[in-house]
Amino acid sequence: MNKIVVEGVATTNPKLLAWVDEIAQLCKPARIHWCDGSQAEYDALCQKMVDAGTLIRLNEKKRPNSFLCRSDPADVARVEDRTFICSKRKSDAGPTNNWVDPREMKATLTEQFNGSMAGRTMYVVPFSMGPLGSHIAQIGIEISDSPYVVANMRIMTRMGKAVLDVLGDREDFVPCLHSVGKPLAPGEKDVAWPCNPKNIYIAHFPDDRAIWSYGSGYGGNALLGKKCLALRIASVMARDEGWLAEHMLIVGVETPEGEKTYVAAAFPSACGKTNFAMMKPPAGFEGWKVWTVGDDIAWIKPGHDGNLYAINPEAGLFGVAPGTGASTNANAIAACRANSIFTNVALTDDGDIWWEGLTDEKPAHLIDWKGRDWTPDCGQLAAHPNARFTAPMSQCPSVDPDWENPDGVQISAFIFGGRVSRDMPLVFQAFNWSHGVYLAATMGSEATAAATNQSGMRRDPMAMLPFCGYNMADYFSHWLSIGRKLSNPPRIFRVNWFRKDANGKFMWPGFGENMRVLKWVVDRARGRGYGVESPLGFMPRHEDIDWTKLDFPAEKFYELMTVDREAGTIEARAHEVHFEKFFDRLPKEFIYERELLKSRLWRSPDVWALSPSEVP
Ligand code: GTP
Ligand code: SPV
Ligand code: MN
Repeated sequence: MNKIVVEGVATTNPKLLAWVDEIAQLCKPARIHWCDGSQAEYDALCQKMVDAGTLIRLNEKKRPNSFLCRSDPADVARVEDRTFICSKRKSDAGPTNNWVDPREMKATLTEQFNGSMAGRTMYVVPFSMGPLGSHIAQIGIEISDSPYVVANMRIMTRMGKAVLDVLGDREDFVPCLHSVGKPLAPGEKDVAWPCNPKNIYIAHFPDDRAIWSYGSGYGGNALLGKKCLALRIASVMARDEGWLAEHMLIVGVETPEGEKTYVAAAFPSACGKTNFAMMKPPAGFEGWKVWTVGDDIAWIKPGHDGNLYAINPEAGLFGVAPGTGASTNANAIAACRANSIFTNVALTDDGDIWWEGLTDEKPAHLIDWKGRDWTPDCGQLAAHPNARFTAPMSQCPSVDPDWENPDGVQISAFIFGGRVSRDMPLVFQAFNWSHGVYLAATMGSEATAAATNQSGMRRDPMAMLPFCGYNMADYFSHWLSIGRKLSNPPRIFRVNWFRKDANGKFMWPGFGENMRVLKWVVDRARGRGYGVESPLGFMPRHEDIDWTKLDFPAEKFYELMTVDREAGTIEARAHEVHFEKFFDRLPKEFIYERELLKSRLWRSPDVWALSPSEVP
């Protein structure tokens, strides 16, 4: 054990040194490298991965300082059925999380981690979620045997020696242990993407605020600052301390007159947060600007003035590549023009990257995400549907001047939106805070490629189903209690960009055109604009939406907005089923909200549609 080579220790923090020592004893790596976060360190690490065949350096002229990585085809997304919340009591993890007794999980994982880093370098990665030194920020230390994780963490977080300086001798860092679970025997040749996909554990210990992740090197399974710390562990901190850790983007909407309104919006994984966060206003909205504060996670705290303030705890984008192109998200394309890592996308013949939706025209020849020759007629996807780009937030042209403001930005509205192909209107507004929390808690959404083994439609409350670190019913109550602390709670909205017609085509153009909905949201949040009271909530009429330079007839609009009474009633009944599993912990407000919804659905004449066109 005393033969381990150790590089770069830059702390005297006794608790941290002791923990790193303990993990080294357990995992038995060949070397320990403390990361300083410097460019030189990053460059050397990437070069090492190029030499090992993990990374491919892209064409320096087209994509400076950028790399392609191909993962093991069995390790391509978050693995929800191997994600565990190991609270002391099962009831504290709640009915929507996988629970294992923390002592049992630690015993199992101690066995797994025993010798798991043999032959590898153990990296110690100090990182800050949130601007360095901000009172809202949290420090984590990730120990990982994956250089790919280290390189991604340097883009996604504030990482390195500066974090240790801020931490000093304090003990309140979140220990995050990660191993790909593939020890090397003496002389054994490594593979390009080591992992152990049949034996994955993403384990959280909310009572000790610790994370142990084993077997996967991909995304949220392995970049532990993101979903594991900034959502699952942070949601528990937030419950205890009176704030919110949410799966939300944050945008600033600026009118031509210079009035700026910040909005936070929750959409499930791969349902449009990154796109919405860097939206380009469409034709007809000249002079409007949408500024990006964050695209995935928001930490939101009540201020002394009774308003909510939000920060983005991340420093980078880990965005879905397919479907991202110059016409759908030009800002994301600009953000990954250099200094980026691309995972599971295709390689062009001139050493650049490509994925479905990057350009309208498909290249004549590519190397696909599995490293095979690809031609447009080969019948295969060139990029994996959950292929991702990792890019510095600072490179996003729409980045908000206040995106690193340690005090956050003031939030005026919350939007919640799932991926629902039928019977869910484009937009409506909650009557009040508790109705809004109800709308968020009953949100449904259809499966995407962001997680493995997912199919069909599921309830995804607040888009937090895979990310809430405690009992979801307590989380609902926490949301209700936050509202009671605010002098002027943000207005709450539901949206749905994904409704389809009888031919399976999207009825709403989406992307930049979502600006028209966002404008109505901002107007309503500021007490302007009109909304008709429908059974579901306040709804815009056709004339309440700004249609400048878009031909979208009233008839089409009301088709998009309408839910018939039968479908509305089926939905309300489904809420009952959804709530059943929360038993006595369900906030009683929800029982009344559901009854009110049912009454509103039945109060009106027979052919009542939820269409504002029917309203006198
Ligand atoms: P995570 O990073 O997984 O949390 O996802 P995200 O919510 O940031 O997803 P992202 O913005 O990357 O969107 C994923 C997919 O949604 C892409 O394939 C987009 O093409 C598609 N998408 C985004 N906005 C819209 C929209 O307004 N309409 C339609 N039809 N599709 C959209
Ligand atoms: C998500 O799945 O919601 C993501 C990607 O943002 S990952 O970081 O892999 O969780
Ligand atoms: Mn996400």
